[in-house]
Amino acid sequence: CGIVGYIGNREAFPVLINGLKKLEYRGYDSAGVALLNGSLEVFKQKGKVADLESFAAAKNPAGSIGIGHTRWATHGIPSDENSHPHQSMNGYFTVVHNGIVENYAQLKSDLTAHGYRFVSETDTEVLACLFEFFYTQNSGNSAEAAVQLALSKVVGAYGIAVLCSSEKDKIIAARKGSPLVIGLGTGEYFVASDASPIAEFTSHVVYLNDYDLVVLQRSNFTLKNIENNPVSLTVSSLEDRIGETEKGDFDHFMLKEIFEQPQTIEETFKGRLNPGYSEIVLGGLQNVFPRIVDARRIIIIGCGTSWHAALIAEYLLEEYARIPVEVEYASEFRYRKPVIYKDDVVILISQSGETADTLAALRLAKNEGALVLGICNVVGSSLARETEAGVYTHAGVEIGVASTKAFTAQMTVLTLFALKLAKEKSTISAKEFDVLVKELAEIPEKGRVILQQNHRIQEIAAKYKDAVNALYLGRGCLFPVALEGALKLKEISYIHAEGYAAGEMKHGPIALVDDNLPVVVVAPQDAFYEKIVSNIQEIKARKGNVIAIISEGDSGLGELADDLIEIPGSQPALAPLLAVLPLQLLAYHIAVLRGCNVDQPRNLAKSVTVE
Ligand code: G6P
Repeated sequence: CGIVGYIGNREAFPVLINGLKKLEYRGYDSAGVALLNGSLEVFKQKGKVADLESFAAAKNPAGSIGIGHTRWATHGIPSDENSHPHQSMNGYFTVVHNGIVENYAQLKSDLTAHGYRFVSETDTEVLACLFEFFYTQNSGNSAEAAVQLALSKVVGAYGIAVLCSSEKDKIIAARKGSPLVIGLGTGEYFVASDASPIAEFTSHVVYLNDYDLVVLQRSNFTLKNIENNPVSLTVSSLEDRIGETEKGDFDHFMLKEIFEQPQTIEETFKGRLNPGYSEIVLGGLQNVFPRIVDARRIIIIGCGTSWHAALIAEYLLEEYARIPVEVEYASEFRYRKPVIYKDDVVILISQSGETADTLAALRLAKNEGALVLGICNVVGSSLARETEAGVYTHAGVEIGVASTKAFTAQMTVLTLFALKLAKEKSTISAKEFDVLVKELAEIPEKGRVILQQNHRIQEIAAKYKDAVNALYLGRGCLFPVALEGALKLKEISYIHAEGYAAGEMKHGPIALVDDNLPVVVVAPQDAFYEKIVSNIQEIKARKGNVIAIISEGDSGLGELADDLIEIPGSQPALAPLLAVLPLQLLAYHIAVLRGCNVDQPRNLAKSVTVE
């Protein structure tokens, strides 16, 4: 979910609406704003921010203090009642909230015993009433003290922005587990769940830490923790990112981001490959590299597409750096009492750096004394701040919910990391290192060649757009690419798709093959070529439709496969960076042809900040 708040001398409504549009990638089931203008007005409803904008604009919203929210439903279906902001029973408190109050049922029944009644099913309304309870119970309590008392009773995660109708000149914001950032303007302040709504107004920000509480007034702000103790203040500076959030000539952000990949990979190389390609420099890891070289094993953790990047890295690290690697879903790792050694290196991968499960896994590994490293895209995110060291992917803002350029940037960083580690450990020959690094530098150019086939891929998409199921197959480090291709299709077109290791096909998925099933096979001419050709034969013998991703100039599969997409040749370890591009385009075109909302697929959120 996304939060934005404003206090200053501007009209708050446009600031909030524009901010919410930038935050919509975090959820878009419903949206709402509350404005203080003498009295308090709340506008909220199910649906997108644009719907809220036209609904509220017709009622002339006014006021220079306000909070807003765009929601990804957790407690209760997307509906007008369940939309944020939520108000306490007697209207003293108005709250927008990210995260989950885990003990909300208990708190709700305690409040019910004190006469409180609720209009929504949300945990946030319980929070608002709890603030009111402490505020009205003791007339000496300020709004801020009431919020502090209430939060000390809360189990779970929150990022909140709060208005109090009898203390009109302030916004109270607090965080535990769900990110919040404060924007410092002149005579005005902003609060938001990430910096994107703030960047156009100020580049001075303060990232809140867990248990921080801030009171924003027009002329000043105070930062403390929920126990009312002062905390030290660090003002950070935002890079100028305006313009990145525009679609330009592209129909969708996802297509723009797919096409940006050659350039974003080049960005990821910057400063990391020396001109002669003899060295890989990962400045963010410099101080800890000796510990990485001595590590017993590497555990890589992520969710969704980031988990796929981790799987590919496992192949590369084991092959070249000869170190055992385990790959884990963050949501499994955090709950399964994993064995973690002090000489383990735990790498957390996350585009947003805010995925709740990934952050929980990070904290667990850190508590056990492992070296925790981050690979993430969002500068200043929780992941970046809580890991001991790390590497930014520099892919720029990714808006499309289905990850594309962030994935290839993660892959680029992981490839650089694997090769650097192999070199430091002397597990790779100088010649092999040289060949791989030089070829890695050629990937952007080869990517451009693949993207030129966009139109051809669109034609293939038209043939398969009505499929009900699809299967994606690959071998070696292209197996996770098959998983990623299937995930892309599933996420944005709602076609059921499965990725499989091609060799496993005969143990199950082959039962699905008939003349209605498209099977996408990633089949470049590598060490597995003969084997994957046999897999294609097996599919054709059962009348499946094969879309093969092949090496440029491979004439062998022409007869066998139904549709061919060529990718330039590369070292096998680098092929994932190329092979994923046609799969992204295929999913994109199929989704567009099916009339789906590609940038904001149903039920998904870009950044899942609840577990
Ligand atoms: C959500 C997004 C995915 C993303 C995953 C992990 O599910 O829809 O695209 O891969 O979260 O996100 P992260 O920001 O941690 O990489």
